[in-house]
Amino acid sequence: MHIRPIDPKDAVIAVTFRLEDPEGLTGTDRAEWTVKAARGQNLLEVAMGNQINIEHACGGVCACSTCHVYVEGGMARLSPSTEAEEDRVEEAPGLQRNSRLACQCAIDKGDGEAIVVRVPAWNRNAVKEDAH
Ligand code: FES
Repeated sequence: MHIRPIDPKDAVIAVTFRLEDPEGLTGTDRAEWTVKAARGQNLLEVAMGNQINIEHACGGVCACSTCHVYVEGGMARLSPSTEAEEDRVEEAPGLQRNSRLACQCAIDKGDGEAIVVRVPAWNRNAVKEDAH
């Protein structure tokens, strides 16, 4: 997946990721990561840019549901869900009211409630990409 470069001086928005399987996602035992993001970045880009390897079988184009996460705080600061995202996320296991596809929610607002994202333990194993 291509991660759009950002100017480090724009990375001023705190995003906290809570990882149910930190070892699987980061190779470490650190379960909570607070990182800095820029407006316009989506949550998948923010995670991947900080070595949090959220599954993303379709490469971030809303064609799977493997990047499913739970937004526990700051939902109003993220871009609203589109119909395409809603259709996809309904296919994800463990669907909840705060379910989102990480590749489809961009950070819209610079301030407000802290953005907190829980990454379910089963996230990374939902779909395996074929070997190339
Ligand atoms: S990576 Fe496929 S929908 Fe997000």
